[in-house]
Amino acid sequence: MSTDTTGTVARDGDSRPGGPADSPFIRACRRRPVPHTPVWFMRQAGRSLPEYREIRASVPMLESCRRPELVTEITLQPVRRHGVDAAILFSDIVVPVAAAGIDLDIVPGTGPVVAEPIRTAADVERIRPITRDDVPYVDEAVRQLVVELGDTPLIGFAGAPFTLASYLVEGGPSRTHAKTKALMYGDPELWHALCARLAEVTLAFLRVQIEAGVSAVQLFDSWAGALSEADYRRFVLPHSTAVLSGLASAGVPRIHFGVGTAELLGAMGEAGADVVGVDWRTPLDVATGRIGPDKAVQGNLDPCVLLAPWPVVEAEVRRILEQGRAAPGHVFNLGHGVLPETDPEVLTRVVALVHELSSRRADQG
Ligand code: CP3
Repeated sequence: MSTDTTGTVARDGDSRPGGPADSPFIRACRRRPVPHTPVWFMRQAGRSLPEYREIRASVPMLESCRRPELVTEITLQPVRRHGVDAAILFSDIVVPVAAAGIDLDIVPGTGPVVAEPIRTAADVERIRPITRDDVPYVDEAVRQLVVELGDTPLIGFAGAPFTLASYLVEGGPSRTHAKTKALMYGDPELWHALCARLAEVTLAFLRVQIEAGVSAVQLFDSWAGALSEADYRRFVLPHSTAVLSGLASAGVPRIHFGVGTAELLGAMGEAGADVVGVDWRTPLDVATGRIGPDKAVQGNLDPCVLLAPWPVVEAEVRRILEQGRAAPGHVFNLGHGVLPETDPEVLTRVVALVHELSSRRADQG
């Protein structure tokens, strides 16, 4: 083990010059100097790519997440095509919950649907703790990917307790999260028991990925923006903290992301992330003011901008790079996932533009 200037423990083997731990992406996460601003896209593997649609045509979503050879191929597709600075494991936030014993499916065009939603203490007990043996396909896929990717870092991920709880309590996607909030306000004890169990599953799932070799992890709390800061602090922060602080000694940067979180950015940083993901609503310089100087930021191009004419895309990329300079580290990304109707050629152009603009600036010192 070695300790870098930010006090982060780097894992042996990864820290060789040119290896994933020395990549622009990991360096930016650790607020170290970079040759160019690194860029990857949430949902870069997915329906925007014809090669993905072809593979998935005959394989249901959850099954594709459980076949290591498909996970490996789908994860590599955007790296080959776009030249992004990081790969993200192809999986879904409900994969560990299904492995923990919950009967669910991912329905095309809808998202996760749970057969018997969680409403009682007995229901919470149905969520079993998991080990590597419950997700052998994830362990195997990560090991294959680390070999295939060479110096390109692989990001592992999981859903945060609130976002997972929302799917489990609602039974599927929800605009208002009404049933989730009714449980949270109406039975805080049960709520905390549910989130504590989900935090345990999430932590175990991320540890499997880290042990298999991922270079960073992202905790997606996509729907946390539905809460006020006070409720977030009371009902969610302790559980997300349990996950992120549980990984403090794992030696990989931790990214924490949610949508609509302008009011929560400071609190989300406090949960123990090294990098806070920001949606398109908050300019990165403003976000940095809220998060503080000891964390990097990730974001935050509005995915809809990618559907606009190129000069609009270019102007927005320039603005985001400029505002990202206020942060001690910046990973370029979208403010949420790639939309399926996005032209993949625009994504490739964005990667090239981010690299070109940010390395020219580095040349100028
Ligand atoms: O490239 C990547 O980012 C990695 C792959 C990834 C998927 N899901 C694949 C996927 C990641 C990181 C996720 C996380 C995920 N899943 C989140 C958190 C991120 C976010 O978007 O906020 C959430 C909320 C889910 C739940 C979920 N799964 C939804 C809302 C959907 C979309 C439903 C639809 O069909 O529109 C899914 C399905 C899903 N997960 C797809 C992919 C590529 C689409 C399935 C398909 O191709 O048919």
